[in-house]
Amino acid sequence: MEKIVKQSDRCRDIIRGLLDFSRQRKPEKRLSNVNRVLEECVSLVEDQVLFHNIRIEQHLKPDLPQVFMDPSQVQQVFMNMILNAAEAMHGGGQLTLTTRHVPAEEAVEVEFTDTGHGITEEDLDRIFSPFFTTKEVGHGTGLGLAISYGIVQEHKGTITVESEEGCGATFTICLPVSSEQENIPRAA
Ligand SMILES: Nc1ncnc2c1ncn2[C@@H]1O[C@H](COP(=O)(O)OP(=O)(O)OP(=O)(O)O)[C@@H](O)[C@H]1O
Ligand SMILES: [Mg+2]
Repeated sequence: MEKIVKQSDRCRDIIRGLLDFSRQRKPEKRLSNVNRVLEECVSLVEDQVLFHNIRIEQHLKPDLPQVFMDPSQVQQVFMNMILNAAEAMHGGGQLTLTTRHVPAEEAVEVEFTDTGHGITEEDLDRIFSPFFTTKEVGHGTGLGLAISYGIVQEHKGTITVESEEGCGATFTICLPVSSEQENIPRAA
């Protein structure tokens, strides 16, 4: 019975992931504060067992310009990053969250740095592919980064990663302040 319950939960997760991946939900964009979305993510995870031995350090730039984005989709991306980091640290280590304003690109950057097991050079090329996972069967569907990539692309942003095996990883998400410039009057 336990096996049946566990495997049907796994099926449910895979199907949910597939649906999220294939669904062309139009983002509902509005001017939102990236720091608030990140803080909401931290409040959702900090009491979870997986995070008990993880120190979360936050360097959030005050007075960030608001970003024209779908806050719930962006929250999904941030949650994926935070959960991946925690999983790579096996529940112990430091997660550093940094936000900054990049005026030259009219963008806001969010950085997730962990002290986990890092990513091999070979894997760096495929982590954004749907269904690529290094997790044990039943622990990852390999859709988190593929979905995140799609959402960030939809916001005309970028996700980049730097990592060395054994030395942690840094994922950087860059979101343009205005992803649909025709919708927001520009300052003269
Ligand atoms: N912070 C990280 N440190 C080390 N490896 C990472 C990190 N983030 C992602 N990865 C690697 O990228 C792979 C793909 O990540 P992705 O989030 O797409 O899928 P997953 O976490 O394996 O499964 P899912 O997110 O669907 O539960 C992971 O299996 C892991 O090997
Ligand atoms: Mg993941």
